[in-house]
Amino acid sequence: MIVGKPLLTTREIQEKVKELAGRISMDYAGKELLAVGILKGACMFFSDLVRSVEVPLTIDFIVASSYVKMDTSGEVRIHYDIREEMSDKHVLLIEDIVDTGITLNQIRERVLARGPKSLRICTFLDKKERRVVDVPLDYIGFEIPNMFVVGYGLDCDNKFRNLPYISVFRKKT
Ligand code: PRP
Repeated sequence: MIVGKPLLTTREIQEKVKELAGRISMDYAGKELLAVGILKGACMFFSDLVRSVEVPLTIDFIVASSYVKMDTSGEVRIHYDIREEMSDKHVLLIEDIVDTGITLNQIRERVLARGPKSLRICTFLDKKERRVVDVPLDYIGFEIPNMFVVGYGLDCDNKFRNLPYISVFRKKT
């Protein structure tokens, strides 16, 4: 297994996080914001992003998985669900990557069923060409080509999440 050179460096990531946080801070000024991280993948992006957002907010998480090694099973399993009340809040879902869109679509419907004041989605990476289900995205960090990437929370078989940058991953041949 090979992890290559950074596709996105730590500095590029930090700059993008600041830019997204600035937009979010303006859009949610004066509103009750509930930031929800979709774990495990969004752990790094979520914690960097919310620390740069300059409006008061509450946080919660949803833990979901659908990938087995490098392939989606198509079945989204929820291991932990959002506990915060959301009928009085504007919810921002924070995701690391949207690939087929299957995970986010199911989580989005789950949240909408609980009647938040509004729902927006922020994803660090968007692998648009792999999309199977259309999901509306409000804040996108980077659009990336169809390559398997790891680092900054993203994994292969639960490894490489701690890399401080995004790298293309390929199997050794
Ligand atoms: C990954 C990633 C997204 C989802 C995107 O999660 O974090 O949640 O897959 O893929 P999709 O758009 O094709 O559904 P994964 O199932 O690997 O769990 P993890 O967050 O624990 O890594």
